[in-house]
Amino acid sequence: MTYTLAIETSCDDTSVALIKDKTTILSNLVSSQQKTHEIYGGVVPEVASRLHAETIHSLLELSLKEAQLSLNQLSHIAVTIGPGLEGCLLVGISVAKSLSYALDIPLIPVNHIHGHIYAFTQYQESLQYPALALIVSGGHTDLILMENEGSFKCCGKTRDDAAGEVFDKVSRCLSLGYPGGPIIEKTAEKGNSESFKLPIAMKDSPFEFSFSGLKTATLDCIKSLDNPHNHIADICASFQKTVIDTLLLKTLAACDYYNIQDLIIGGGVASNQSLMNAFKNRIHDTSLNLIHIKPDLCTDNAAMIGLAATHLGNIYQLNKDELLVQSTFSYEH
Ligand code: KG4
Ligand code: ZN
Repeated sequence: MTYTLAIETSCDDTSVALIKDKTTILSNLVSSQQKTHEIYGGVVPEVASRLHAETIHSLLELSLKEAQLSLNQLSHIAVTIGPGLEGCLLVGISVAKSLSYALDIPLIPVNHIHGHIYAFTQYQESLQYPALALIVSGGHTDLILMENEGSFKCCGKTRDDAAGEVFDKVSRCLSLGYPGGPIIEKTAEKGNSESFKLPIAMKDSPFEFSFSGLKTATLDCIKSLDNPHNHIADICASFQKTVIDTLLLKTLAACDYYNIQDLIIGGGVASNQSLMNAFKNRIHDTSLNLIHIKPDLCTDNAAMIGLAATHLGNIYQLNKDELLVQSTFSYEH
C-alpha cells in the first residue's frame, strides 16, 4: 500500500490531499481565498502567497486527520511546480521539499495542467488514445493532445484572455461579484441567449482561441444600453452562449482532425452545467467518449495533483535539490 500526500498552491486555493495507492482519494481539503480576493475583483498574487503560508500547515494536519494517517506512513510527496503564480507555488514547494527531506521519501513535481487532466482517473481507469483534454479555467483555455500515456502536446490555446478570466471580467463590469463564472451562470438562467449577437473570434484558426474581442464586444454592448441593469440576464445568457459556442466549435474540430476517442473537459469553467450539456448534446450520436470532471475535482484541488503523481510519477524528473518554481511550465516532457 502507498500513501501520497499532495499539495496544490498554484493560484488562490490552498489544497492538501491524500491518495491511497493509485486512485483512492482519502482526503481532499481546499481552503478558498475567494472572500479576500473578491474585494479586489481578482486574485492579488502577493496576498495569495501570504494566505497560502498562513493556511497550509493547519490544512496538512486536518487532511492527515481526515485520512486517519500520520506523517510516518507517507510514501511520496507530490507538489504542483507550475504553471502558476511564482510566490504561491513557492509556498507549496517549500513545504513539500521540507517534508520530503525530513521523512526521507521521494518528491514528485507535478504540472498543474496534468493534474486537471488526471482527475479523469476517478471516472475511468485508463484512456483510449488518441485522447484530447480541453482545460478551461481562470488561467487556461488549452487543448491538449495525448497520443499515448505520458505524451502531452498543446494543439491549441488562447492567444489572450482565458475563458474563466473573461467570465470574471464581464461579471466585474456588471458589478455581479467574483468569481464571475458561477454568478453569470446563475444569472443567465433567466435570460434569453439570443438577445445580443456577440462575436466568435478566430474562426479561421481551427484550434486557437481568443476571448479578448468577446470581452470588449460584451463591454461595448453593456455601455450602449440606456439601462444595462434591466438587461443583465440577457447579457449574461448571450455572453455565456458565445463562450460555449466558441469552445464547442474549436474542440470538436480538433476531435475530428485528430480522430479523438476520449475527450476530457476539466478546469473551473467545466463546472458550468450549460457548457457540459451543450457538449453532451452535440456528441451524443458520435463515437466520442466524453469524460466530464465533476465540479469538486474541476476547480483547483490537490487530489488531482496526487492522481497525476501516482499515474505519471515515473516520467517526472526527480531531483529535489534542483527543484524550482516553473511558473510558465510547458506540457511537453
Ligand atoms: O480551475 P480554477 O478553479 O482555477 C484556475 O486554475 O484558474 O478555475 C477558476 C475559474 C474562474 O475564472 C471562475 O470564474 C471559473 O473558473 N468558473 C466558472 C464556473 N465556476 C468557476 N466559469 C463558468 N461557469 C461556472 N459555473
Ligand atoms: Zn487550475
